[in-house]
Amino acid sequence: MPKHDGVYKKVEAAIANEPDGQSALEAAVRVLKAEMTRYTWVGIYLLFGNELVLGPYLGKPSPHTRIPVGRGICGAAAAEKATIIVDDVSADPRYLACSLDTRSEIVVPIMRDRAVLGEIDIDSDQRAAFDDANRELLERVADLLAARLSASQPAART
Ligand code: SME
Repeated sequence: MPKHDGVYKKVEAAIANEPDGQSALEAAVRVLKAEMTRYTWVGIYLLFGNELVLGPYLGKPSPHTRIPVGRGICGAAAAEKATIIVDDVSADPRYLACSLDTRSEIVVPIMRDRAVLGEIDIDSDQRAAFDDANRELLERVADLLAARLSASQPAART
């Protein structure tokens, strides 16, 4: 059984109760922020054309509300269509700062049929906060969100 299966099940139950894709995203952010103590900032970006646009989030307001694909760690994950974990953001030249307290970050693309719909972005004030169990949890949540978004909007192609 995956380590964070209990949290996954809470996300699954919360989003099943939501009427549309947008409120499902909000519910996922809410559960992840409440359940995972190291998650200082939890947000979801949606891809519109070649730009990631900030959707629901919990944490300090970010100056990065629109990020072109290819810029920052968020843009890199969208371009590579793969999860990126950065243990020490100060050592990664791609990093776009959101808060001075952030030490590590994980970005997980939300994809359908290899098309990026958006991504889950999480910052932690702890160094190296994201391990394989976090990656597994968030990739499973991304699949749930992809299914919900697919039902209500066409895939944005990259
Ligand atoms: N750190 C991200 C930018 C988004 S904020 O962390 C919310 C990046 O490097 O792409």
